[in-house]
Amino acid sequence: MSVAGAESAVEAARGDVVLETRGLVKRFGGIVALNGVSIRLRRGRVTLLIGPNGSGKTTLVNVISGFIMPDEGQVIFRGRDITRLPPHERVKLGLVRTFQIPKPFQNLTVLENVLAAAEGNPGENPYIAGVSRGAWYRFEEEAARRAFSILDWVGLLPKWDTRASDLSGGQLKLLEIARAVMKGANTIIMDEPAAGVNPRLVHELFSRITSLARERGVTFLIIEHRIGLISEYVDYAYAMNMGEVIAEGRPEDVFNDPRVLESYLGG
Ligand SMILES: Nc1ncnc2c1ncn2[C@@H]1O[C@H](COP(=O)(O)OP(=O)(O)O)[C@@H](O)[C@H]1O
Ligand SMILES: [Mg+2]
Repeated sequence: MSVAGAESAVEAARGDVVLETRGLVKRFGGIVALNGVSIRLRRGRVTLLIGPNGSGKTTLVNVISGFIMPDEGQVIFRGRDITRLPPHERVKLGLVRTFQIPKPFQNLTVLENVLAAAEGNPGENPYIAGVSRGAWYRFEEEAARRAFSILDWVGLLPKWDTRASDLSGGQLKLLEIARAVMKGANTIIMDEPAAGVNPRLVHELFSRITSLARERGVTFLIIEHRIGLISEYVDYAYAMNMGEVIAEGRPEDVFNDPRVLESYLGG
């Protein structure tokens, strides 16, 4: 390979990183919740974050999504330093934690719930709404087309006319993802999506997450404890303990790392 070729290969690998944290430090009084945490999320990959209670996982995703400011370090999203950007500005860039999308409306159908998450809904924008009925219909038609295709991606198309109240726990998680994508998410952070979902549906949920990543280039960061069920769907894993990343790599290697096993035994 030529020097130029090698350089562009390096560029391509770098371009693959959607989100990066560099040396994050966060202290709460005397507690060091994050002690120099650097992680990378690659485009179209599912990245898993594990670690025992109190290891710093929630603090890390709070810093990534902008709910708390780090004492040191940076968060870089698509090449831009977003360390000081407020949460809603990050959402506008496509970095979304699913809990930032309001809970589904129980009495609305799946399709209506996805439409309700749409960006720039003219009903909420007096300027657009005032333009013409034609503009409204064009918006609705385009939004509906987009909503149907997103429902197809997450496997909820057969349920488009079902009320949210009639969905299973796993289907509600898929609806959350569909609404995040409708809102413009390209990077989705989920905290324990498998909690309260039965094992068979956990597989269905995660195979949908994986295909959204593979086929649509959506990037996922997932905190999850039921790692036995989901390791086959995960591309890369980070294990934290006491505010530090203690292992990273292929999920099965990380799960079997002696330091990771020991951290779970409360060492
Ligand atoms: N707002 C806060 N004030 C004080 N201490 C906190 C706060 N948030 C987290 N901590 C502490 O920081 C450490 C990491 O917590 P957390 O990020 O919630 O871990 P995890 O999500 O892995 O269980 C714990 O010792 C926790 O008690
Ligand atoms: Mg937590």
